[in-house]
Formats: sequence, C-alpha cells, structure tokens
Amino acid sequence: MIRLDKYLADMGVGTRQEVKRKIRKGLVLINDQAARSPDLKVREGEDRIFSEGREILYAAYEYFMLNKPAGVVSATEDSRDATVTDLIHEKCRKDLFPVGRLDKDTEGLLLITNDGDLAHRLLSPRRHVDKTYYARIRGRVTKEDVQMFADGLDIGMKGYEEITMPGKLEILVSGEESQIRLTIQEGKYHQVKRMFQAVDKEVTYLKRERMGTLTLDENLKPGEYRRLTKEELEGVRRC
Ligand code: URA
Repeated sequence: MIRLDKYLADMGVGTRQEVKRKIRKGLVLINDQAARSPDLKVREGEDRIFSEGREILYAAYEYFMLNKPAGVVSATEDSRDATVTDLIHEKCRKDLFPVGRLDKDTEGLLLITNDGDLAHRLLSPRRHVDKTYYARIRGRVTKEDVQMFADGLDIGMKGYEEITMPGKLEILVSGEESQIRLTIQEGKYHQVKRMFQAVDKEVTYLKRERMGTLTLDENLKPGEYRRLTKEELEGVRRC
C-alpha cells in the first residue's frame, strides 16, 4: 500500500504539491471513484489509478541497458553536459541512476535503474563482478603485457602504490595500434586507462561489453537503450 500522492509523484505525474492539487480538484480516480484526499492508500498493481483520464501504472523499479555514447557523463545531473539518465525517455521513475561510472569518452554497457540494492551488490568490491572492455591501444600490446596484467599492476599515483587484482588481457590485434579485450573485477577510477599507462601505452578508444552476466546488446547503437529482459534481470540479480 502506498499513499496516492506518492504513487503519482513517483510515476512522474507531477511534484508532490502538483499531484495534491490535481487530487483535490477531483482529476484523479481510484478505480472509478474520484479521490479527494492525497493521503488515501492505494494497492500498487491492484487499484487502477487514472490522472486526467490517463491510466498511471506503477513501477517500483525500472532497469534499462544503455549503450552509452561518448560525450555524455555517467551522472544524474550535470551543469554542463548531458547525462546518461537524460537519454532514457520512456522512464516512469524519476529516481534512475547509472550503476557505476564510465568516463565521458567511454562507450558501452551501462545499467540504469533505481534499484539501489542491486547496484550496491554489482558494485561491491567484495563481489568481484567481472567487467569486460574492448579497447584500441596506441602501441604494440605484447605477451609480456598479458602476463603483467595477470600478475597485477601498480597503477598508483603521486608515489602511492595501488596494485590491481589480476586482469585477463586478450590480444585481438597487435600492431602500432592494437586491439584488446580486458576483463577485470574492480572498478577503480580510470582503471583500464591507468593499467595501460602502467605498461607505457595509451587507450585511444574504450567500450564496455559486459558486466557480470549482462552483455551489451549488439543491436543498440551508441545512445540507444532498452529495458532488460526478464532473463537478464534474473541473471544480474544472481551476480
Ligand atoms: N576504465 C577506464 O579507464 N575508464 C572507464 O570508463 C571504465 C574503465
């Protein structure tokens, strides 16, 4: 059971004050009766709620897979740049946030939800959830690099040691510009870029392909998104 004004505000019908006004004006129906009081309790999924003739369905949680484009920040608000949540137009909830961060110039898989418990579990350093990236690298990536990534690298800054957990580096193309796939279990700030810096190379393009059991849908172009399927959601919940 949930208060009627919260139900409507959660679903983006208006601010709490705006929906209270609509309710008092008799513009909101519970089943087929005008609701006069904002503090009436309704049963999500059972009572049918209409605001100005439009049925408002309740979604406690929403889950979207976004192919994050470059140039957009992994945040909910930013004074200068577009954010990843600005890209999600068909949302009901206003409290969506990205699960973890990708750098502004990084593309690829980002889960957008309002499920804080799930986000916490996926991001918890103790859970060691795999994250797989595809990258283009300025410089020749070698078998020695593969071994160094597997051993753990010092990516510390300002003289402080910071050793990474083992990373699985796969060379796809080795040349003046190499292409790689890297799986790591951490999410330190700029981690992939700093791992390559540690072996004197530079990431020129970075895209996340996988997080836990969730794989970026190849049909999503940068900037496109879709809701998670039931199977995907069950998979990430088990991560
Ligand atoms: N590692 C990085 O360096 N950048 C990202 O956006 C993600 C992982």
